[in-house]
Amino acid sequence: MNKNLNSFEVLNICCIGAGYVGGPTMAVIADKCRNIKVTVVDKNSKRINLWNDINLDNIPVFEPGLKEIVARVRNKNLFFTQNLKDSIKNADIIFISVNTPIKQSGLGAGFASDLKWVEKCARQIGELALGHTIVVEKSTLPVRTARVIKQILNSASTDNNSNKRTFSILSNPEFLAEGTAINDLLYPDRVLIGGEDDYAIQTLSKIYQNWVPQKKILTTNLWSSELSKLVSNAFLAQRVSSINSISALCEATGANVKEVSNAVGLDSRIGREFLNSGPGFGGSCFKKDILNLVYLCRFFNLNEVADFWYQIVLINDWQQKRIYELIVKKLFGNVDGKIITILGFSFKSNTNDTRESPAIKIANYLLIEGAQLKIHDPKVSHQQIAMDLKDFQEDKNGMSLNSWQFSKDVYEALKNSDAVILTTEWEEYKGLDWRSISKSMRKPGWVFDTRKILNGIEIKNNGLNYWCLGEGSDLEMI
Ligand code: UDX
Ligand code: ADP
Repeated sequence: MNKNLNSFEVLNICCIGAGYVGGPTMAVIADKCRNIKVTVVDKNSKRINLWNDINLDNIPVFEPGLKEIVARVRNKNLFFTQNLKDSIKNADIIFISVNTPIKQSGLGAGFASDLKWVEKCARQIGELALGHTIVVEKSTLPVRTARVIKQILNSASTDNNSNKRTFSILSNPEFLAEGTAINDLLYPDRVLIGGEDDYAIQTLSKIYQNWVPQKKILTTNLWSSELSKLVSNAFLAQRVSSINSISALCEATGANVKEVSNAVGLDSRIGREFLNSGPGFGGSCFKKDILNLVYLCRFFNLNEVADFWYQIVLINDWQQKRIYELIVKKLFGNVDGKIITILGFSFKSNTNDTRESPAIKIANYLLIEGAQLKIHDPKVSHQQIAMDLKDFQEDKNGMSLNSWQFSKDVYEALKNSDAVILTTEWEEYKGLDWRSISKSMRKPGWVFDTRKILNGIEIKNNGLNYWCLGEGSDLEMI
């Protein structure tokens, strides 16, 4: 193995962080490289226990196709553990895949990423690693984080017994999108490896070459790699904010945003992806990466550039606020005491992740207005929703003001509702029986479709009012 620096052969991989990135990525590496032992470490014992749960439906990350892979390789060459010490000691390559949320306080609060977990990881690696180790940044990180990791590791280049230890630092940003993570990992558009040490780059590249064509593996310097990740996400988010801004104009003018995005996206120079208007982007990356980019630009005094990118976040916040305001207006300007059902709590379909989910913001706005919410999601747990709505009480014995309830059954969630807001585009919501739902709702009932996936005609034919994001009507212009 490469501890002796004499071959590209890697026998042991360790990944620190068993989250939405670390878990699926390591599962795919283990599946595609059966000769490599992959150990995923996390300090969160509950998370590790769930990854090791006999019932594969309980693994903590829901991703289509993931549990099948875990079933194939878990406890064969994929291991989940809390034992950081041994995992680091034995590793030829260590992936850092820990959380890097936006700082809540202190310098850069609200914009810069909180690197305390990354720094801690680097210190742990510095203390425990043996021989030569390749350290790979996998978490989305601000540009120049590699330098921080490098400095920490270089200061730990000998252990207590004066054994020499050496490190190569690589940036290998993850481009997987939740909900399609397995497919994205298996068939990536590109794999990006940034670094200065050719040997380390080739070693990591060889691992990916087990299933990724070599021409898709791109190598750059460290900073280009780190910046490319931020810029990729900023470009994608920019497309979402662009079409969301147009959704409001469509509503005002009588145009239909679906038709507009289709017509615009058919221009091959523009392309069709990421032109789907909705309740604003969520997820752990888009907002964080743009804020990091803005912070970086301001740091270098590029204030016009910073303002340009910041506008994307502002439009996103505005889209969520305008949807909430519109709902309140349609409900006669008052939601106090009204029952409103929220369908979908994850930030997009096919994931149980709720980070930055538009549903959280919309739910918060409505709860502050005194609405009583019933919330349904096929994959997000009751416990997770309680954490996301921590400022609001949950009333289990019937609802009182400023309260919400979780419903496991979608039809139960819709009973007695004054209004329904579809916030996540789960497939199962497409086939709802509006005839029976209408009978169980209070009248006049409203359906607000922020993802444009419901059958408006069927809903209206069953006696409910229907509002669809980005659909204007000539009537409203009169
Ligand atoms: C994103 C990037 O796509 C991925 O490459 C990176 O590694 C992590 O960040 P993710 O946030 O998991 O992935 O999901 P993504 O599919 O990009 O969706 C992000 C948000 O944008 C979701 O809330 C989604 O609903 C929204 N979105 C996306 C739209 O509203 N319209 C679109 O057309 C596409
Ligand atoms: P991501 O979406 O980037 O994967 P998550 O929050 O889902 O982010 O996962 C990050 C994981 O990293 C968490 O489970 C957290 O417990 C873990 N973690 C953070 N710091 C450390 C550390 N020093 N050692 C081990 N695990 C860590």
